[in-house]
Amino acid sequence: VRQLGLYIHFPYCESLCPYCDFNSHIPSLNQSFLELQAAYIQEIDYFLSKIDKTQFCLSSIFFGGGTPSLMPPELVNAIIQYAKLHFITSDDVEITLESNPSSTESGKLQQFKQAGINRISLGIQALNDKDLQWLGRKHTAIEAKKAIAIAINNFTNVSFDLIYGRKDQTPQFWQQELQEAIDFGTPHLSLYNLTIEKGTPFYTLMRKQQLQIPSENTICDIYDITQQIMQSEGFERYEVSNYSKNMTYCKHNMLYWQVQDYIGIGAGAHGRITYSNGERMQTITHHNPQKWQHSITKYGNALQKEQPITLHEQIKETLLMGLRISHGINITDIERRFYINLNNMAPMAIEHLVNKGLIVANNTTIAPTAGGLNFVNSITKLLLHEIDSNNNS
Ligand SMILES: C[S@@+](CC[C@H](N)C(=O)[O-])C[C@H]1O[C@@H](n2cnc3c(N)ncnc32)[C@H](O)[C@@H]1O
Ligand code: SF4
Repeated sequence: VRQLGLYIHFPYCESLCPYCDFNSHIPSLNQSFLELQAAYIQEIDYFLSKIDKTQFCLSSIFFGGGTPSLMPPELVNAIIQYAKLHFITSDDVEITLESNPSSTESGKLQQFKQAGINRISLGIQALNDKDLQWLGRKHTAIEAKKAIAIAINNFTNVSFDLIYGRKDQTPQFWQQELQEAIDFGTPHLSLYNLTIEKGTPFYTLMRKQQLQIPSENTICDIYDITQQIMQSEGFERYEVSNYSKNMTYCKHNMLYWQVQDYIGIGAGAHGRITYSNGERMQTITHHNPQKWQHSITKYGNALQKEQPITLHEQIKETLLMGLRISHGINITDIERRFYINLNNMAPMAIEHLVNKGLIVANNTTIAPTAGGLNFVNSITKLLLHEIDSNNNS
């Protein structure tokens, strides 16, 4: 039996943040939640008809967005109940909801718990008003702190996100802010370096040279301080941007990084799932929420893409994902599942990267070193280059 994840994308936000390129839209006033519920359920039905469900055990459900804390708890509950009824479900299934810290949504956390949510991931981003404003956030620092407190009161499994690399941010100030964040005592934190994504308002500002972000040197200092503090506070950096205590890894994200199977529903959701004919498929649904809904009503699914994952893609994905986590890639597991032995495919690149201190490799594992976690893309590129040239010769 294999692990299975279910990702539910909720593509709406109260307002759009200038740095964000996730699939999010301002909800239309006539949005019917019952219609939405029916559409999500139909999507689950579609995948149920494609897979051999006896082969899978549902180990995580993840409501992501967008802002899924805007969902009515009844809708969340209906989806969870339906999934539990139709999939073989693990006793300790992790059910995460991403939540924004506005007061109305924090007020709903208890209802989300009753609906079956057992893990909360809050989008805090900053703990001071000046930076929250610069990031275009609608909540205040006080609301952020209240939201964390309420989440901790209701759930044991709480994480929150912070973004660093903000205008005028100094290592000293960040150090204090990070310490304040840690002192809330959550077992898990996600610390993201601000990336400037194409098509966002921040990107336009950057092109006009009007986006004031810290210099590369300052970012490096901020980054170094982050690793120092997290380590001395007993957090394990188990993925590039994710830190946890006592192995409270996000099970759902671990599925992605270990290239396991997951179903993706909701507008613009990605999935990777082995159908009953044995083919591992990649799926993407329509991005536009109206088109998504319309397509489900008409065809019973909203797939914009549904195709087998090629061997080359499989290798690339295994490396790109697997080298992001400190545990690295389990060579034996990958060989058993995809019939590829990564160790034999790029011996020279592996030796080179080991000598450079970027990875460690043995018969069963290839894993990034602490330093290697900063160069996942270049490491993958080097490995793929040798794999490709071997395949072509
Ligand atoms: C899809 S968002 C959902 C969370 C929720 N909507 C919120 O904003 O509070 C997940 C996380 O991605 C991070 N994120 C989004 N865009 C980013 C960017 N350009 N750079 C760094 N982190 C980003 C933020 O920390 C955010 O909390
Ligand atoms: S960061 Fe969160 S709230 Fe802001 S636009 Fe993106 S998904 Fe929406």
